[in-house]
Amino acid sequence: MGINCGSPLPCIFYVQFFLLALHVHTCLAERSTYIVHMDKSLMPKLFTSHQQWYSSIVDSCKTETPTSFESRSFSPSLLYTYDNAFHGFSAVLSVDELENLKRSPGFVSAYNDKSVTLDTTHTTQFLSLNPSTGLWPASNYGEDVIVGVIDTGIWPESYSFRDDGLTKNIPDKWKGTCEVGQEFNASMCNNKLIGARYFNKGVMAANPGVTLNMNSARDTEGHGTHTSSTAAGNFVDGVSYFGYAKGTARGVAPRSRVAIYKVLWEEGKGRYASDVLAGMDQAIADGVDVISISMGFDGTPLYEDPIAIASFAAMEKNVVVSTSAGNEGPDGLGTLHNGIPWVLTVAAGTIDRLFAGTLTFGDGLTITGFTLLPANAIVEKLPLIYNKTFSACNSTKLLKSAPMGIIICDDSHAIRGQMLRLIESQVLGAVFIDKDPEVFEDGIVTFPLVVVSPDDASTLINYATTSAKPSVSMKFQQTFIGTKPAPAAAYYTSRGPSPSYPGILKPDIMAPGSLVLAAWPPNVAAGRIGSNVMLPSDYNLISGTSMACPHASGVAALLKGAHPEWSAAAIRSALMTTANPLDNTQNPILDNGDSFNFASPLAMGAGQIDPNSALEPGLIYDATPQDYVNLLCSTNFTRKQILAITRSHAYDCSNPSSDLNYPSFIVLYDRRHHTKQLRVRKFQRMVTNVGDGAAKYKASVTAPKGSTVRVSPEILFFSETYQKQSYTLTITYKGQKKGNVSFGELVWVEENEKYNVRSPIVVSPLVPVFE
Ligand SMILES: *[C@@H]1O[C@H](CO)[C@@H](O)[C@H](O)[C@H]1NC(C)=O
Ligand SMILES: *[C@@H]1O[C@H](CO)[C@@H](O)[C@H](O)[C@H]1NC(C)=O
Ligand SMILES: *[C@@H]1O[C@H](CO)[C@@H](O)[C@H](O)[C@H]1NC(C)=O
Ligand SMILES: *[C@@H]1O[C@H](CO)[C@@H](O)[C@H](O)[C@H]1NC(C)=O
Ligand SMILES: *[C@@H]1O[C@H](CO)[C@@H](O)[C@H](O)[C@H]1NC(C)=O
Repeated sequence: MGINCGSPLPCIFYVQFFLLALHVHTCLAERSTYIVHMDKSLMPKLFTSHQQWYSSIVDSCKTETPTSFESRSFSPSLLYTYDNAFHGFSAVLSVDELENLKRSPGFVSAYNDKSVTLDTTHTTQFLSLNPSTGLWPASNYGEDVIVGVIDTGIWPESYSFRDDGLTKNIPDKWKGTCEVGQEFNASMCNNKLIGARYFNKGVMAANPGVTLNMNSARDTEGHGTHTSSTAAGNFVDGVSYFGYAKGTARGVAPRSRVAIYKVLWEEGKGRYASDVLAGMDQAIADGVDVISISMGFDGTPLYEDPIAIASFAAMEKNVVVSTSAGNEGPDGLGTLHNGIPWVLTVAAGTIDRLFAGTLTFGDGLTITGFTLLPANAIVEKLPLIYNKTFSACNSTKLLKSAPMGIIICDDSHAIRGQMLRLIESQVLGAVFIDKDPEVFEDGIVTFPLVVVSPDDASTLINYATTSAKPSVSMKFQQTFIGTKPAPAAAYYTSRGPSPSYPGILKPDIMAPGSLVLAAWPPNVAAGRIGSNVMLPSDYNLISGTSMACPHASGVAALLKGAHPEWSAAAIRSALMTTANPLDNTQNPILDNGDSFNFASPLAMGAGQIDPNSALEPGLIYDATPQDYVNLLCSTNFTRKQILAITRSHAYDCSNPSSDLNYPSFIVLYDRRHHTKQLRVRKFQRMVTNVGDGAAKYKASVTAPKGSTVRVSPEILFFSETYQKQSYTLTITYKGQKKGNVSFGELVWVEENEKYNVRSPIVVSPLVPVFE
């Protein structure tokens, strides 16, 4: 009897960490990359194109004296020109050259290229969208919709990107292309993967002389293959992650077309805003309907945030931009990124699925717990050992003194470190007692172990300590569907309020993000045994808001297919007002990152995305580009900062208003200036009837604790479809010295209960804002 883990014993434990925090790059050379916003209306007549104009500006800003030795380039150079996401360019410049450039007519603003954070949690192996969770019924919705994914590229040979069942009728508006590059030729695109492009000038400029490992749209990291297939992968039967999550893989919008824009590279210290902007700029020009972007820029004001800037242009063209909230949870408020008023900001939740192993004891008793060992290890009737001397499992030396067998580890601190100690000490296997959601949601298992609940601890320990010859067998590769409660807000999902614009409640919604199964490149490790056995898999289970975002992108694509006339704001409204605040026990969704308390909208937005309900929301809260401009005009941003986002002087700043017609409500109090005095905040909203004909709705309010909420009028009558009605919502609240968050809801209930149009209401302490 022994353990077969695919290599001679002992199995050395190893954990592959995903690059979580990507640091702002520092460049030794004196020149560095700047992103420059220009006012295109001031282009001199002399130039026939913006490219020509920008190129002449860059050429003429060169300073006389050569720069120092460390500088690799002796002239300023233009990287990209941008014309869709915003007007301007990126260029490699010295500080002096930048100063010259600032004197050019038409200059608006400039800032250093910055690095982006990819929203996969720190692990690479984990899990899954379950095709049978029923969130998305298979349909032809999405057939005429194009999803543009901004990411690490794609593995075009993946079965998820086959075009079986898709027509050749690619929408006429499509202007994209399949760009040829290293190990990527034009025949790799098809009727599913209709476009592939790559943007490398920013990474090359920041890392002079670098040779890119894969200079094409081909994915060498896995992230982009995973997100693209989650949003829009085709049906693929018989997939699994090493025997877990077996079934048919499919994207949320399995008939949608995918276009990939590779903007993230393995090389260098960061991932560059200039490349991200170039990818988004091109996606807009190519004619995508939805942009899915699972990354974000932390600590950046709206007017310097490439995603905020490019998505404003996308919104004007009714392109839905779906973004990830970030993985900075659970501690503290205001950790999210992409809290941009004109995008969809997606939080991550868990799935009703357990990857499991079953323990069978010598006396026939069984206990099931969590495991994700990527192998079918043989553990048959091995001695089960519980000894307080080493049961903390944190000392290699003590564990080496243990007899051969399966060790019970009863200390729930830092389980990852304990796994490493167990491998170092050549223990055959372990049973952990823990309920820390981080263990389940990350899903890193590279050693034969099963994690059982503290509820089962006494049975386990009692058997191990009273039986004459305790023994245990372990069965791996089990998957249970329908576990409760689910979903829960993932512990890692970043929390609102949005530091870049706290006045709009963010995130907007929650979608499955923990242990999502999707396509993976075959030459990037998807699993590991010990430290040195890398296992390939065409499908991988990983966790993060990066995985949640493409679920929402896919649903947005389906809605776009069903309601081509809806604006991006209408689609977001439909998703938010129909989101489900309850889990599968019909109780409020819990927060895995907050001691299993009820999840606040600052963790999960309006709740779990509910695609089928979103098809028929009853009422929608719409917003026009001018409404967002009114919001920008109400901030302290300068005229030029606003222009960097809006690009156009055509907008009018004469009606500033922070009261955007948004399907949620947030009031912020300053906890430093606590008073007992009540404050009042009034919101104005306008809803459009998108139901069938006449309708009557009644307001139903649950006020946040400590506040009162008044809605006027309390009844809305609509005599026909598309009629609009307005109401006001007034919140009377007081600040809490302790910084408490309280929340409630407004639901417009249709008189026949056909529609419930729900908006979360939050009273939150203020967080520091980026300006
Ligand atoms: C593209 O690459 C594939 C795989 O390497 C090859 O079979 C095919 O002939 C190439 N097509 C063209 C047009 O070069
Ligand atoms: C191991 O855990 C025990 C019990 O929690 C603790 O007292 C001890 O300090 C830990 N030892 C190490 C090396 O971390
Ligand atoms: C626990 O382990 C220690 C160290 O290996 C050993 O001395 C002791 O006898 C063990 N206790 C039991 C009850 O087996
Ligand atoms: C604008 O700046 C003023 C003065 O610094 C400040 O009192 C006010 O709160 C700011 N307004 C916004 C919307 O940030
Ligand atoms: C605020 O939070 C503290 C600490 O959790 C709690 O003791 C207090 O009752 C809360 N106050 C209100 C008004 O909810």
